[in-house]
Amino acid sequence: MPPSNEKQIIWHQPSITKQDREALYGHRAVALWFTGLSGSGKSTLAHEVERKLYHRGCHTYVLDGDNVRHGLNSDLGFSPQDRAENIRRLAELVRLFTDAGVIVLTAFISPYRADREKARHLLAPGDFFEIYCRCSLAVCEQRDPKGLYKKARAGDIQEFTGISAPYEEPLNPEITVDTDKESCAACTDRIIGVLEAAEVFKRQDCRSR
Ligand code: ADX
Repeated sequence: MPPSNEKQIIWHQPSITKQDREALYGHRAVALWFTGLSGSGKSTLAHEVERKLYHRGCHTYVLDGDNVRHGLNSDLGFSPQDRAENIRRLAELVRLFTDAGVIVLTAFISPYRADREKARHLLAPGDFFEIYCRCSLAVCEQRDPKGLYKKARAGDIQEFTGISAPYEEPLNPEITVDTDKESCAACTDRIIGVLEAAEVFKRQDCRSR
């Protein structure tokens, strides 16, 4: 018998590869990893970019932090350890989506640099676009779309990012959008422009629409 910690699990090589799927779909399968404070516009932008990509004929999917915490990650809270585990699982999910040929857009606060870097390194170089939704805490707090900042200030929510838990700004993101200064349309166009320059769109019909 092998030692109990030695897993007898063998990697199965797929017969249809990521490259095969990219050729079929006419675009590269990459991750657009939106990061920023709660209320900084991650979900709004991810859905708007997705809408544009969808109308170009791209295969896309948005993973939203709040939604995933209802199911897959419903066992996790907001301690640094739980957030790390949240991002670890989601990064693995992102890898599966890109293996499936999909452009995956994620909207997770993902406040710790180390966790984001681990997610980046699960993908091939050039396949991970870190998109920093930069927005002052004052503006996020003013927007307060879910009323959570108010609760955090009142002490009803512990370890709330920006108030009682840290947010580590990206040091070298592929894209920074200033969502408290630029319009949603301008941010979206800039993101699409970066994807075009990175030759994410291979087939003519995906390239312009
Ligand atoms: S992360 O830090 O682990 O990346 P994630 O993006 O999954 O966070 O979830 C953030 C969402 O959970 C926020 O948009 C907010 O709606 C909700 N939330 C509830 N409690 C907290 C908290 N303590 N800190 C931050 N977000 C919280």
